[in-house]
Parts: sequence; structure tokens; C-alpha cells
Amino acid sequence: MIVAIANQKGGVGKTTTAINLAAALALRGKPTLLIDLDPQANSTLSFLDMQQVEQSVYDAIADPHLPLETVIIPSSLPNLSVAPSRIALAKLEAKLVGELDAHFRLKDKIEPLRKTYPQIVIDCPPTLGLLTVNALVAATHLLIPIQSSYFALEGTDDLLETIEKVRARPNPALRILGVVITMHDKRTALARDIRAQIQKVFGGKVFKTVITKSVRLEESPAYKESIFTFAPNSTGALEYYKLSEEVLGRV
Ligand SMILES: Nc1ncnc2c1ncn2[C@@H]1O[C@H](COP(=O)(O)OP(=O)(O)O)[C@@H](O)[C@H]1O
Ligand SMILES: [Mg+2]
Repeated sequence: MIVAIANQKGGVGKTTTAINLAAALALRGKPTLLIDLDPQANSTLSFLDMQQVEQSVYDAIADPHLPLETVIIPSSLPNLSVAPSRIALAKLEAKLVGELDAHFRLKDKIEPLRKTYPQIVIDCPPTLGLLTVNALVAATHLLIPIQSSYFALEGTDDLLETIEKVRARPNPALRILGVVITMHDKRTALARDIRAQIQKVFGGKVFKTVITKSVRLEESPAYKESIFTFAPNSTGALEYYKLSEEVLGRV
């Protein structure tokens, strides 16, 4: 299973979902790889210090002769490794202009690692550009985090259109695994309305598990920890563990 976490909107919970879903999957015992495709490197920084990062996913994608394996660094959590990002990733689009295999670079780099890492999670940048397309071409499944907010569904048409384009040619097998509602506040009527709206658009694709707003989830990356070691008894830990259960049930 290769799950891309994508939504071209920023700040909707992609990275929080990527790091904690990857950690939950690792906790369940199988080797898990978290690939950070966002030049902002937030996923990377949630587990590693930048000093540890000598080469990044950028180097592996840009250089046909550099295996992805070379840039992977184990995290402090058992079974979890990270393919780190660096700001250089922002240059990738320009670098690959005119390359015929530009959309397939990540897929080709992941292929030799699928046995080593039966579970792969890809954190995407907040765009529908070449990096996100590389993730969608490489992925078996797509998970869409949608923030519980007034503008929650704005932009989902563009995302769905991109998915259809990827499915039409480079990756017909790509499946939408589900939509997860993030930063939900059960107490407000607005949040309940928004949840109903999301449900209306995505129906059974919406995960039963909803991620509520939680300060603990916001804090854990600053301590280089997932929610499971930072606050194992928090609602965030419980919810992301339940989400991992649902994810495994659907693949
Ligand atoms: N469930 C949550 N509760 C509270 N804060 C959250 C939650 N999920 C994400 N955040 C915070 O919201 C901000 C954006 O989340 P992030 O995961 O970085 O989104 P994205 O990767 O889509 O830009 C971050 O500061 C993050 O810590
Ligand atoms: Mg992010």
C-alpha cells in the first residue's frame, strides 16, 4: 500500500495526518516509510533534525542514478523511516521540464523498495503541481484530509479533476481510499453542518473516524515525536490509531 495524502489547500492537516498515520501503521508492526514531498519539510522536521539530512528526496528524483534508499533515514520510532525533504524540492519542477518521464520519477524510485516497506505514506505539498502528480502516479491509494471549516469543500473539484486525469493514463489503478475530516470541533453547529456537507459530497468515502481539534496534535512535531509517544492517551492518539484501523480495513 502506497498512500498519498493530498489536498492542494494548505493547512488542512495533510502533514499531521501523514506523520501520525505513518506512526500508527509502524506501531502495528510493519516497516513503514514516510516520504516527504513538501519543500517545506514539515514531515521531515517532525521526526528528524535538518543536520541529519544530507540528501533528500529531491536528490533521488533529480538524479537517475541515486537510489531512494540512499536518502532514507530511520526515525526514533521502531519500524518508521523517513525519506526527507529539503527546500531544494521546490526547484524540481524547473529541473524536470522537458523530461519525458517527469511524472514517473517517484514511482520508479519507490518500486525497488516496495518489499522492504510494505506500507508507504507520502505527504504532498499544497499544490496540484508536478510533485503531487508524482505522488498520485506512484500511489495505490489517495487519502484526502478536509479541514472542518466554512470553506472546506472549496477546491475539491480541482483535486478530483487531477485525480481523474491521473487515472485516465498514468495510474488507472489509483483508488480514493477516503476522506478524513480534520480539526473538527464537535461543540459547534457549524462544524456539524460542514460534516454533513462533506458527507453529502463524498458519501461512504468519508472515514467514520473524525480528527478533532487538539493542542497535543499541534505540539508533538516540535518535540520530534508522533502523537503516540508524545501524548499516547490523548484523543488525537486514539483518533489517529482508529484511522489507521479504518485505512487497513479499506486497502
Ligand atoms: N487536529 C488538529 N488539531 C489542532 N491543530 C491541528 C490539527 N491538525 C493539524 N493542526 C495544525 O494545523 C496546522 C496545519 O496543519 P498541517 O498538518 O501542517 O496541514 P498541511 O500539511 O495540510 O498544510 C499545523 O499548525 C498543525 O499543527
Ligand atoms: Mg504540510
